[in-house]
Amino acid sequence: MVPSRPRPKVFVSWRFPSPGPEMIAAECEAVIREGDTLLPREEFLRAIADVEGVMVSNTTERLDREAMDAAPRLRVISNFGVGYDNVDVPEATRRGILVCNTPGILAETCADHTFALLMAAARRIVEGHQYVHAGRWKHWLPSLLVGKDVHHATLGIIGMGAIGREVAKRARGFDMRILYVSRTPKPDVEHATGAQRVSREELLSQSDYVSLHLPLTAETRHFIGERELRLMKRDAILVNTARGGIVDQAALVRALDEGWIGGAALDVTDPEPIPMDSPLLNRPNVIIVPHIASASVATRAKMSELAARNLLAALRGERPPHLVNPEVWGRRKTT
Ligand code: DGY
Repeated sequence: MVPSRPRPKVFVSWRFPSPGPEMIAAECEAVIREGDTLLPREEFLRAIADVEGVMVSNTTERLDREAMDAAPRLRVISNFGVGYDNVDVPEATRRGILVCNTPGILAETCADHTFALLMAAARRIVEGHQYVHAGRWKHWLPSLLVGKDVHHATLGIIGMGAIGREVAKRARGFDMRILYVSRTPKPDVEHATGAQRVSREELLSQSDYVSLHLPLTAETRHFIGERELRLMKRDAILVNTARGGIVDQAALVRALDEGWIGGAALDVTDPEPIPMDSPLLNRPNVIIVPHIASASVATRAKMSELAARNLLAALRGERPPHLVNPEVWGRRKTT
């Protein structure tokens, strides 16, 4: 009789929603972390010492050279999320470690959230909520919490990938004029939404809302800095549901202090979580929420399933559905 292969050891850094953890537990010798506290780095490094695979959050676990040194048997990193700026991909590639993510399934949910932030900032929803709860609503006033129109305004989308496209579709429903910046033209989006590809400068100077949809890389870090913020309209709103590092936050604070722009709506900050003494906090014209763009029940379940499928396929020796570094496939680590 051929001895059956031992079940691969894996570490799952959070109790992700069903069905991912259950799928993994059925095939692997899995440690699935319980609880809602952040895993200290030292404990994370110890937890992965002997594993062949990890499923991690792309916002809390850093898979850098140190982590890869700590996990010499590691063959696959499966990110719960589409972004992979938490992983040193060139280093993983050099070591033959597969890196996987969950694209495609969260774009619509992230676009919904982008629009929620954009509209909340435009129509001063958070300020209104606070006004009521502070007992200040004594009577109606003609000038009370007047905001900016969304319909027929100009939306600038920076980065026309899967999420940018979904934002453009929503903007079309609001009769917005859509400008975009992208490395390559997107004729299908232009055809479907009337979006026009323009230079970064044109987009910044003409848009009432600027929404960021770029991955964070060495090239996109501080893509929006002082020069860009100064180009924006004085009442424009910056929406960031991509990554905090894409915006130079010190420049954003100056822009808000000095009125170069009208406000900001941020799902992401740099660093995360935002320190409680950050000068971005407690401003009426800035909305900040804790990196929840993909946080709908249905989408989180799909992300969990896809991250588990990626992990399990790699451990079975099958090609995972979403490989960030496909060039590793032919020379991946096998045990
Ligand atoms: C992603 O999927 O990258 C989201 O930002 C959640 O981390």
